[in-house]
Amino acid sequence: MSGPLDRLSPVVRVAPAKLNLTLAVIGHRADGFHDLHSVFVPLALADRLSLAPSATGRDSLHVAGSAVSSGTDNLVLRAIAATRRAVGGGWSGGPGPAPPIAARLDKRIPVAAGLGGGSSDAAAAMDAAIEAWAAELDDAARLSVAAGLGSDVPFFGAGGPALVEGRGERVTPLHGLRGAPGILLVTAPVAVSTPEVFAAFAAIRGTGDPATRLSSAHLASELGSGLSAADLVARAGVMAAANDLLAAVAVVMPELVPFRRALTRLLRRPIGLSGSGPTLWAVYPSHAAATLAAATVTGAVADGSLVVPGHGAPFVAATIIAPTLIAIDTTPARRTQP
Ligand code: C5P
Repeated sequence: MSGPLDRLSPVVRVAPAKLNLTLAVIGHRADGFHDLHSVFVPLALADRLSLAPSATGRDSLHVAGSAVSSGTDNLVLRAIAATRRAVGGGWSGGPGPAPPIAARLDKRIPVAAGLGGGSSDAAAAMDAAIEAWAAELDDAARLSVAAGLGSDVPFFGAGGPALVEGRGERVTPLHGLRGAPGILLVTAPVAVSTPEVFAAFAAIRGTGDPATRLSSAHLASELGSGLSAADLVARAGVMAAANDLLAAVAVVMPELVPFRRALTRLLRRPIGLSGSGPTLWAVYPSHAAATLAAATVTGAVADGSLVVPGHGAPFVAATIIAPTLIAIDTTPARRTQP
């Protein structure tokens, strides 16, 4: 017997982490969100997502590598459901609804870290489901589904560095990055709630620093035309200061302030904050240089000279900014009907 499931092809996607090189908060919006001006870059650090036909008659998710919920609150399942609703009967086996999917997610990106892991997984799930169903969904509909899933999700459709504006739905690709700058990531094992950080921001200042906005606009323009890894390293001090959420994060998680200072002293580099944290980053000319820095941090944690907030070991990783993203479909051969 053959059915619509046989027409599904398994699809694999990489779901990269993101880093905010700048984050200017322009103002509070009537819908409760904030208008942003932020330069986002994708990293080589990535989760892996694979979708296959579900034999159980409903969507399912298996998560490996992290204690993330695999329930219906997971953004992967929400993304598949939202994409199915948007596709309607517009898939290869239509006009009925697109069939259920079994998803498997290998988590490598730390969760709730300011690295966009959940949002990236959602964007990858949307894209993979559309391909698995051989469905049609135009750019406007994709953007609407993505924005409905979360403010950071539309960025992951850009395929590379981008200027992100509005609540996150205005994404302008920036094609000027040359080379692959190294990035050191250090995530202390503390929970920082994004809504709490934005609430603290509204309480202390309510509007961003014009200097942050200027730095962000300047970097976006430079990344749009041409910037090497060395150029980016030269701008690290400006970028590390250009996050309007720094003061709010210091209110919500004060322990991150001395930790950031200690990392600055240890590495003698400007240390930035990604999004609303808690991930801290430093930029290097290469992956090799970032790897050395990661060893320095790990060594200092081990010998007790670097005191880490929270309980347990920090996540310390060397990665690179990925100039363009490569979507991997490891199973190009479509299943054929007997
Ligand atoms: O869209 P997302 O669910 O990722 O947003 C999480 C929270 O972050 C929102 O509830 C809001 O408090 C805050 N936020 C914001 N402005 C944005 C993005 C997020 O205020 N542009």
